[in-house]
Amino acid sequence: MPAQNPTPEELRDTLRRQAQGAISLNLAYIGVVNGLFETLHGLGAATPEVLARAAAMDPGYVLRWCDAAYAFGYLEADGDSLRLGAAGEAMRPDAAGTLMPLAVQAVLSAHMAERAAGLMRSGERPGEKVLAERETVLPWFGPMLEANFGAMFENTICPAIPEFREVDSRGGLAVDLGCGNGWYLRALARRCAGLRGLGIDGFAENIEQARGLAAREGLDARLQFVHGDIHDMRLPEPADLIAMNRALHHVWEKDPDTLFAWLRDNLRPGGCAMIWEPAWPADRGALRDPARRGMAFQNLGEHVQGNHFLRPEEIVAAFDKVGMSATVHAFAKGAEAVIVARR
Ligand SMILES: C[S@@+](CC[C@H](N)C(=O)[O-])C[C@H]1O[C@@H](n2cnc3c(N)ncnc32)[C@H](O)[C@@H]1O
Repeated sequence: MPAQNPTPEELRDTLRRQAQGAISLNLAYIGVVNGLFETLHGLGAATPEVLARAAAMDPGYVLRWCDAAYAFGYLEADGDSLRLGAAGEAMRPDAAGTLMPLAVQAVLSAHMAERAAGLMRSGERPGEKVLAERETVLPWFGPMLEANFGAMFENTICPAIPEFREVDSRGGLAVDLGCGNGWYLRALARRCAGLRGLGIDGFAENIEQARGLAAREGLDARLQFVHGDIHDMRLPEPADLIAMNRALHHVWEKDPDTLFAWLRDNLRPGGCAMIWEPAWPADRGALRDPARRGMAFQNLGEHVQGNHFLRPEEIVAAFDKVGMSATVHAFAKGAEAVIVARR
């Protein structure tokens, strides 16, 4: 953040540093989506030519990328031979606590900024398909969300919400509406051997990933993933848990009353709906908080997609309207909310 009353030089320095940060993440993105960090990690050290061959990429592009990645400190050099520096290791999608999501978010943000800039003139809101406009981005959407939120779910959210202990002990059917790459149902199925899962998502790419990842973990006998629209979802039996993670705001503007009545009617008595959403603050001043600043930008990209972020109170009120009382659990200094309502 620029200081309160910066001199012109301070302001230029601050914004130049921020510009370099954006360039650095854009550069990392190229390495992430083309497997360059992982490949170089496997090789230990390599010339750009050897790296290009091992990663099955064009040598000319890889040479230019290597120069830039060296300039920004992702790579270290020993003569012609290059190896990953600490930042390069941290960008590996398979590294523990990977920083890959920052790179994916940077490029996705640039794409959304460009779309918002053009669409602001007409007010058109093209919807979810905007996410698929960049062919290299869509496959990284699921891994980005899993890396960003999977550990938080398992280490912070599950232990803090008593209803998850019930899910563990009673098993049954858990449904995930807008399931992305299926990480949430995989996490629940790992905890609870008696649980079956059904996920639905509107992107075929996500469903393919979800099926493949469930099979890789040996969970495919219990987890089913279908490609389709949340609004057309029919359950084979009432659910013990219906979850929506960062998905409610995608469908909220359409017809929330029908959706919440569907949630109530498709739960077994005693079953729970759990809605996890970024928590839009009641007070604009809270958007200055570094924990929420990204959300303020993201809401512009959400607008392009026909969505907007919600205040937790709005979700509680929607449950109330269908006769379900809901409890808000706040996480990440109030920037994330899980709203739990029992039938
Ligand atoms: C922000 S992502 C969250 C994905 C996943 N729940 C997670 O937490 O990683 C929202 C997801 O909702 C899906 N979605 C949005 N509207 C949908 C609809 N009408 N029907 C099915 N899926 C939808 C999108 O395809 C996307 O994968």
